[in-house]
Parts: sequence; structure tokens; C-alpha cells
Amino acid sequence: MNILVLGSGGREHAFVWKLKQSPLCTNLFVAPGNAGTANICTNLDIAVSNFESIAEASLINNIDLILVGPEEPLVKGIVDFFKANENTKHIKIIGPSKEAAQLEGSKAYSKNFMQRHGVPTATYKEFTNNNFDEGIEYLKNHTLPIVLKADGLAAGKGVLICETTEDAIAEFELMLKHSKFGEASNKVVVEAFLEGIEMSVFVLTDGKNFVLLPEAKDYKRIGEGDTGLNTGGMGAISPVPLMTKSLKQKIIKTIIEPTINGLQKDKLDYKGFVFIGLMINNDEPFVIEYNCRMGDPETEVVIPRLENDLVEMLSATATENLDKISVKEITDAAVAIVAVSGGYPGQYKTGEIIDDTNLEPLVESILFHSSTKLIGNNVVTNGGRVFVAVSYGVNIKDAVKKSNKLLQQIKFNGMNFRKDIGYEFV
Ligand code: AMP
Ligand code: GLY
Repeated sequence: MNILVLGSGGREHAFVWKLKQSPLCTNLFVAPGNAGTANICTNLDIAVSNFESIAEASLINNIDLILVGPEEPLVKGIVDFFKANENTKHIKIIGPSKEAAQLEGSKAYSKNFMQRHGVPTATYKEFTNNNFDEGIEYLKNHTLPIVLKADGLAAGKGVLICETTEDAIAEFELMLKHSKFGEASNKVVVEAFLEGIEMSVFVLTDGKNFVLLPEAKDYKRIGEGDTGLNTGGMGAISPVPLMTKSLKQKIIKTIIEPTINGLQKDKLDYKGFVFIGLMINNDEPFVIEYNCRMGDPETEVVIPRLENDLVEMLSATATENLDKISVKEITDAAVAIVAVSGGYPGQYKTGEIIDDTNLEPLVESILFHSSTKLIGNNVVTNGGRVFVAVSYGVNIKDAVKKSNKLLQQIKFNGMNFRKDIGYEFV
């Protein structure tokens, strides 16, 4: 089978690393990829939302299956685009339709879906400029803190947790009247604050059946001890020690089954990953958000803990045969630690030369690239998150130690990484 992965981050490097191990994989491509993926497969210099060029390259390379990494092409409708074209409709594409991708693309859509299908989540109400005054009254009577969410995609920045009513009113006004997040905040979801511990579960569905992948927890803040600004993710662990057999059963019964049944009831075309962000409060799970793809850096711990053949799983997804797949998890823990550019998530430089001459041969570790490129003979930095060091261990502590050690052997100007990933569990 010839496979094309779309994306350029650590998530996509982890996908191609795993797909390449399958005897079912013939030719493997990634668009656009990075310097790390280039060592495993063929990078195609095409942007993830350039559907015409992706279709053209898919036909030239006889692609049988496309795995879409990031949300942008899904929310823009790449699945519908491929299905609507006579030449490309035979290609299996892993991801939801444009309509179903609204589960991530619109907070109001996803809250409405959860409410209709009885999925436990924070109470909420949605507002636009048409019911602005009603929104102000709603905020005045709301318990604190208040969570404000821009409806649309806002590069992970559209969620504000306001500690005072005054602050909430000011932000509400900035979002609706002054387009704080552009078009994304033309609609605002106001929701109750959920206390608890966050964790994510990952489901692969063919629209009817589903399998549950290993769970993970990511670390979003830039600073140690979960301080400072939010980032795309500074690290991740799997398994999450908080997950017990009974909690897993509860998550399946109260969240995953109603979600998959909801997709069917709403006649949504969904063959792909559902990444469910959860808040666990006193052993009770609530959904914070749905994403219509895998997470980054969560993929980099989830995929290495999967014993199954990923090509077989994706084929079963495309052909609605997921009921024939049973997930086998590797019992070892996996920990991902992300090395970022100095200044990230604010301003940072790119093009810094990476020195890995001290890198020892990797034993029980994998080094995924997040944003690197090859210039001449040098691998240079090409974004905020640069590398993801993933290690296996007998427990979280053991795996953290190995990933920290690995990153100490790599150098580039300004390099920064958190040494406390998994701190609650060591
Ligand atoms: P989201 O983009 O919806 O995942 O929100 C980003 C982050 O904001 C989440 O990972 C949580 O840390 C936090 N968050 C979102 N909604 C809530 C909520 N209702 N209660 C508490 N924290 C929340
Ligand atoms: N790590 C969070 C995300 O991928 O959305």
C-alpha cells in the first residue's frame, strides 16, 4: 500500500516511523514533512491545505491511503474534496468530513453535539453580537471563574479563564465587539469552570465501530511546575497513572459510546481519530473538547505504545472493519519531552544550527523532529518546537530520566526544554 501523511511536525514523524514498520507499507510519503521524516520516507514540498497539489501528487505516486495529521485541512474539507473528485474518490482518507470536523472547528457546534447526545461537559451558553446584552447579564450571574471560548480555530489561544466578572465582561466585549481573535470570536461560548485533573483519550473510529488507544496527558505551559504561557505542548506521558480500569469503563460508557452513537445519529461521515480532552473530577470524567485528529506531542507517546500494525488499523478504519481490530498496548511507559527555540511561545529565531555530535546511539529512545530542515549539510531549527525526545521506561520516572539525558546531548542556540514532565507522578 502506498501511503501519504499530511503535516510537518513530531506527530507526523511519529506516524511515518510507525507506518514504515508495517509489511503492508510499500511506498511512504509525507507532505511537507521535516528533516527527520526525510530519513524515513519521501518528503513532498506541498502545503497541507493545497488540496489540488495534494490530489495531483497522490495520483502521480499511486497513493492508496492518506493520513491527515493537523486539523486545518480537515476543517477546510479535504475529505469532501477527495470524495467529490472522480479521480481521487478511490483514495482512502483518514479524517472526518468538513461537517464532522466542526467538532473541533466550532466550540458551539461541539457543545451542542455533546448536549444533544448526553455527553457530560461543563454547562454553557453561546453568544454573538445579536444577543450581546443577554450575554452581559449571563456573565453577571455566573459563578467564578468563567471560561470564555472563541467559537472558531484560534491557534490554541482562544480560551480565556476569567477570575472576576469585570474581567470576563471586558474580554467578552473584546472578543465580540473588537474581534480579539478575528472571525473566530464572532461567536463566543461561555462555560462553567471544571475543577480536576486533565487527561486525554484517543479513539479511532470508522463511523460505526471504535477502538481506544493508550491515554496520555500533555503539559501545555512553557515553565516548569505548569507556569507561564500556553504552548502547543512541552511534553506528554502515557499511560496516565490516574487511569484505572473502572475510570476507563466509565469513559467508554458515558463519553465514547454516546459520542460514536451521536456521529451515527447525526449521519456524520467520520473515519479517523477523535482526540477527547477530559477533566477528571472525583473520578468522574467530563469532556473539555473534541479534536478531530491526534494531538502533538500526545501522538509521540501514544503511537510508540501501540503494538498493532498501524497500516492494518487505518485500512480497517477506511473499510469499516474496526470491529476486527483489538488494540494491544506496550506495557512500558513512554515520556515525550519537547525541545523548543529560545523565546517560544513568543518571538524566536529559526535557522539555528543543530549540533548532535554528542548524541549517543539511541537505546529505548526515539528522537522525533518537530520543525527542522536541512540546509546544505546542516540540520537547522525551523519553528518553535524543534525536537521531541521520547523514551520507554519501566515507569514515568525512568522514561523521563532517559528523555532528559537524550536532550542534554543535543545543542542549538537558545534551546529550552522542561525537565519536570510527569512531575506529579514521579
Ligand atoms: P480547549 O481549547 O477547549 O481545550 O481549552 C484549552 C484549555 O483550557 C484546556 O486544556 C483546559 O486546560 C482549559 N479549559 C478549557 N475549558 C475549561 C473548563 N470548562 N474548565 C476548566 N478548564 C478549562
Ligand atoms: N497537544 C494539544 C494538541 O495537539 O491540541
